[in-house]
Parts: sequence; C-alpha cells; structure tokens
Amino acid sequence: MNAALIDSARDRAGNDPIFIWHGEAMRRKAAGEDILNATIGALMNDDGTICTIPSVLETFRKHQTASVAGYAPISGLPAYREAVVRDLFGQGPLADQAVAVATPGGSGAVYAAVVNCLEPGQSMLVPNFFWGPYREITSHSGRALDPFTMFAADGTFDIEGMSAALDRHLATQGRALLVLNFPCHNPTGYTLGPDEWRRVTEAIGQAAKRGPVSVLIDVAYMEYGGAAARGWVDSVSGLMRHATVLVAWTASKSMCQYGARTGAIVALHEDDAERTQLDNALGYTARSTWSNCSHIGQKAVTDLLTDPELSARVVAERAEIADLLQSRIDAFNDAAAAASLPVPRYDAGFFVTVFTKDQDRTAAAMREHGVYTVPIPGAVRVAVCSTPASQIGRLADALEHGLAALA
Ligand SMILES: Cc1ncc(COP(=O)(O)O)c(C=O)c1O
Repeated sequence: MNAALIDSARDRAGNDPIFIWHGEAMRRKAAGEDILNATIGALMNDDGTICTIPSVLETFRKHQTASVAGYAPISGLPAYREAVVRDLFGQGPLADQAVAVATPGGSGAVYAAVVNCLEPGQSMLVPNFFWGPYREITSHSGRALDPFTMFAADGTFDIEGMSAALDRHLATQGRALLVLNFPCHNPTGYTLGPDEWRRVTEAIGQAAKRGPVSVLIDVAYMEYGGAAARGWVDSVSGLMRHATVLVAWTASKSMCQYGARTGAIVALHEDDAERTQLDNALGYTARSTWSNCSHIGQKAVTDLLTDPELSARVVAERAEIADLLQSRIDAFNDAAAAASLPVPRYDAGFFVTVFTKDQDRTAAAMREHGVYTVPIPGAVRVAVCSTPASQIGRLADALEHGLAALA
C-alpha cells in the first residue's frame, strides 16, 4: 500500500466529537424517538430551524452580484477592516491604536494569533473549560494548549491560577499567549465582572514585567451578553500598557452567519511601528493560508455595521433572538437552582456546563433518556441556545438523572 500520510496525520478523528453526538441524536430522532438535542452550537428557533436576522439576509442577497466575484484584498477590504475596529471601539482613542485583518471567522483569528505570538513547540494558555478547537488549532500548527484551573473554590474566575500560569510560561517559554473568551464564555456561560477585569488586568500587568504577553480576547458571543457585554473594552487601555491585545471578532454569531466565514483579528498596540509589524504579520498569515476571505461577507457586513438604518435594524432584530435565548437561560437557571445542579454562574451565552466527576457516564445516562449533551473534561456542555424553554424542565431532569447515575 502506498501510504502517504505522515504519522501525525494518521488516525485523526474525521469529525469533531460534537458532530458525532449530534449525528447520533439526529439518527434516533429520524427513527421516531423523542430526542432532546442540546448539542447544537447555533441559536435555533423553538421549531428547530436556525435563527437568522432578516436585515442580514437581505444585505447578503443585495451584494450577490458580479462585484463580489473577484478576490477581496489579502488583509481584507479597507472599509471592512475599519468597520470592525469601529464596531469594537467606536470613535474613541482605542480605534486609532487598532488594526484589523480579515479572517475566516473567529477560528481564523485564533489561528493567526497562535502562529504569530507563539514559536513552534510553545503552548497557549486557556482556562480549563474551553472551546474545543483551541486544542486542534494549536496542535495542528505545531503549538500546544496548556489549560489552567478556571474556577477558584468560591466559583469565581481563578485569577491567582491565571497569574501562576502566566509566570510559568514566561519562565519556561519566555513569552505567553493567554486566551480570555469573555463575555459569554463557551462552554460555561461565565462573564467576568468589572472587578474581575480590573484584577485580571493588574495580574497581566505584573506578569508582563517578566516578558512579552499577548492577550487574545475572544468575543465570539459578545452580542448576546446584554448591557455588560462590552465591559471588557474598559480594560483594554490598561492591558495595552503592558501587553499586546488581540481581539477575535466574528459575524458567525453576531449576525447569525456561521457559514459566511466572516471574521477578523484585531490587534492593538500603543507603538505605531509595532502596530505596522502586527498588521503585516497578520496579513502574511492570510496570504500563506486562506489567501483572502469571503468578499461578499465583508461587503455585506461592512454595510450592516456602518449604514445607520441597517445597523439599527440588525440591533433590533438581533434583540428579538437574544430575548429568546435569555428566556431559555432564565428557565435553565431556575431549574438548575431548584434541582441544585452544580453549575457556574451562568450570566449569558449560548452554553452552560454542568460539572460532573464522570462526564462520559453522566452523558451516557442522559442519552438513555433521549437527551444529548456534549461530554467535556469535568462537565457536560449544554447548548441552551438550541433548547426551547418548554424543554428545559426535561433537560434538568435528565441532568439530575445523569449525575445520580454516578452516586
Ligand atoms: C469561543 C469561540 N471562539 C471562536 C469561535 C469561532 O467561530 P467562527 O470561526 O465560526 O467565527 C467559536 C465558534 O463556535 C467559539 O465558540
């Protein structure tokens, strides 16, 4: 046999584990069983169709012309790059210290951060509950992931643990790349409060005295975090005093356009020359991987962010689906409290975790009741975003059953 695959590419899982559980749930449903599928990581209507935003669909349709048949510039359309920066930082001084480079979704932004801020063989720091693909993105690019304990004994973000992990990386690697996926953390639903952001900023400032630190703020779910969701912006200038700040921005969730692959990495630095270096390095990553990003996606999203009438429509139409999500979160928090389920503070976001000593047995016991969640180390991940409020009671019962199965 002519076997061309190199060793590290052999025996790869052909599919993300989440899609495996999702597939099984769909098969049982198609066979006539009453299945509750809380694995789907997209906002779904109660009838099981995907939530979309009418103004977004209209704008994409409008741009489906010959003008988007050609390539977009490697680093992205200038107007798009500017629109993303303005979306995050408005007209304030931070916008003048930021550059954005188009990426295929937040995934591309994470990849660009990894290959530009870590040497091959080095590791990225992330709280120990994390979006699974951080591991594949780091490993596939010859880097690695090093999770630190996310929660202190009192259930708040373990800032001391984060500091210790930063110190360790600075001592062993001479640099650190830290991911903070707040607000609306996937998979826990936790959001750092203003005081936590202040203390995180202080801790990063202390660590950065010992070597270069990059902080990647992954704001994939920011638009579903309510009024508090942009609180992190207040910490950016403090972080920039000591660290390079990167932001992973994506239209996947904010515009319900998961398939449009339209995102950006935003890099902030006080120093003009360093900012130019960052801009060029991130553009180089685009040229050497995905080449350039969706032209139609960038055109449509630019309009949606900058046209006053359209952007007002997006905000109003998205508020309706954010309300739908909130009604599910409220129902979940009530049911979790009534059943004393071990959950973190679930402020906002698509997912919550329910802690368990044996995630595989808990998830298996739930599947016996026709309820699908995703087992992850130390917990099962529950996609509240795709669970109708009317089904939350059933979900909580199954979770109780799944935890009791361990007793
Ligand atoms: C935490 C987090 N970051 C980034 C992404 C990237 O998504 P996309 O590449 O579709 O923008 C996701 C998607 O699920 C996510 O959950």
